[in-house]
Amino acid sequence: MNTPEFRVFGTAQAVASAVAQHIAGAVQANPAATLGLATGKTFISIYAELIALYRQGGLSFAEVESFNLDEYIGLPAGHPASFRSYMEEHLFSQIDLPAQSGHLPGVEGDIEQACRDYEAAIAARGGIDLQLLGIGQNGHIGFNEPGSPFDSHTRIVDLTPSTIAANTSDFPEGEVPPPQAVTMGVGTIMQAKEIVLVAIGANKAEALDKAFRAEPSLDCPASALHNHPHVIVYCDEAAMGGK
Ligand code: GLP
Repeated sequence: MNTPEFRVFGTAQAVASAVAQHIAGAVQANPAATLGLATGKTFISIYAELIALYRQGGLSFAEVESFNLDEYIGLPAGHPASFRSYMEEHLFSQIDLPAQSGHLPGVEGDIEQACRDYEAAIAARGGIDLQLLGIGQNGHIGFNEPGSPFDSHTRIVDLTPSTIAANTSDFPEGEVPPPQAVTMGVGTIMQAKEIVLVAIGANKAEALDKAFRAEPSLDCPASALHNHPHVIVYCDEAAMGGK
């Protein structure tokens, strides 16, 4: 097992700023980097900081390609809670990433074929250089819920009631998340060259603890990261259990 490097900050804002600098540094070092991007509340302030760095100059996404972790199945195109809408709003529309370079898993038509195509597109780029991850309160990464095989790839998954409940606040009043999504697999994530996992807030403390202080277990998908050689965890003190 490998022990990830923890970078702990006093505030959520300090975490966001440090993660944005990490992403910017990776793109400056490799302007044609392939990024694995995440959604969720955690990344809103990170992307805001990244946009601020972009506006300062000296940072371009013109040669970058990005692959998001996941997308809901069954939302109408342009639905405000789709991860495509999230990415357009919080990042893509505000940087120079070419429109065709920001990929999300396909959730229309033959979805199983789209999953295979997604894996092939990542492989054609030579794999993901930097994968960003949040963590669910149940230890999920992407939408790999507990029980997800550690060698799983991009596929259709059922969301757990707790994930649906946790994400309901992202939806317009009176709507709930769909029951299914497409997600990169744990195995897809594990193939990334470098992984940055971000956890903010006391409600992530238990998942973080289970992910990195216990033996890897299918009950906690994030614990697969123990077997990855280059993981950095950015978190605040609350996510560390207030220690
Ligand atoms: C979502 C996403 C994950 C994300 C997690 C935590 O459902 N599929 O990629 O990391 O849940 O989200 P948040 O940052 O909103 O807590």
